[in-house]
Amino acid sequence: MAVKYEFLTLQQIEHFLRYGWVSIPECFTREQAEEWTKDLWTRLGYDRNDPSTWVLEKINMPTLNTVDVRDLAPKAWKAICELSGGEDRVAEISRHWGDNFIVNFGSEKLNGRIVGPRELDNWHVDGDNFIHFLDSPNQGLLVIPCITDVLENGGATYICPDGIAVVAKHLLDNPEGVTPYMARKGEEKQFHEFQWFCEQIKNSDKCNLFQQMTGKCGDVVLMHPLMMHSASRNALHIPRVITNPFVSLKEPFNFNRSDPSDYSLIEKKTLKDLGVDSLPNWKIEGERETLNPGRVAIHERMKEMELRRLAGENIGPVGDSGVEVHREIVKGLVWEKPEPSMTAQNV
Ligand SMILES: [Fe+2]
Repeated sequence: MAVKYEFLTLQQIEHFLRYGWVSIPECFTREQAEEWTKDLWTRLGYDRNDPSTWVLEKINMPTLNTVDVRDLAPKAWKAICELSGGEDRVAEISRHWGDNFIVNFGSEKLNGRIVGPRELDNWHVDGDNFIHFLDSPNQGLLVIPCITDVLENGGATYICPDGIAVVAKHLLDNPEGVTPYMARKGEEKQFHEFQWFCEQIKNSDKCNLFQQMTGKCGDVVLMHPLMMHSASRNALHIPRVITNPFVSLKEPFNFNRSDPSDYSLIEKKTLKDLGVDSLPNWKIEGERETLNPGRVAIHERMKEMELRRLAGENIGPVGDSGVEVHREIVKGLVWEKPEPSMTAQNV
């Protein structure tokens, strides 16, 4: 059935097809953001008013609770559904947004220091728990709710819109599938972290457009799943809070629809950046597999500490960012199917 657009404006649709992202303003209020994050400082063991207690430059917190996006941010949900080609294509799990806040504090040392996008070493696409194909339904959209104002050079996520074509081409050329780090089978030791992505970002024949995803508290940025992005350095030392809910689809993306009006905007953007109208002969040639990312174990440990702090125990902050430790763990990543009980969809 042809996709209907009742929420997104023509301008927003055109913007998404051009840049691969769209920002939906005022999806929730500052009061809702305050309520959502009321335990954040206790969970961390940091003093909101004393920057000397902010042990880490940036932290990816674990999920303790979830909210229904249809209650918190109904506008964002409408946009998510329209970009995905209709609510009936969106998996139920996508309705739950976790309180796995990503806080970028910056540091005294970084204060006033601007770091350019090609100097960043954290470039990636989301989805560390599955083997990636061009049509993978696991990561249908990348979502950034701005839970504080997200200011220019204040720790805003950097994105590379012209990199969508680069990632899409790599996946098109590798129908056997690649790891979350874009490694083909046998290349896992070479590309086990952010190397593949950083190589593309540094190549000015491929990647030249960089943008910071700034926004006001309550805005929700929706991005194409193949959008390369990186955490940035916060030069302002004002804590920036976001989270990164994912959207999963019930079925893989379909790049060979008989009626072109059935393509979702995400599918249209993938095809546009590949320079084709459809992919009639393309199909996956590997098995769809889930992986067990190291962050699951890290988050379990962090969660235990947060629950103890919430219960009133004074155990202070912990220097465990969930990023640095994750880096240590992914170095050993090999392409092995995990035990089914060990798999977890982006907790
Ligand atoms: Fe990410």
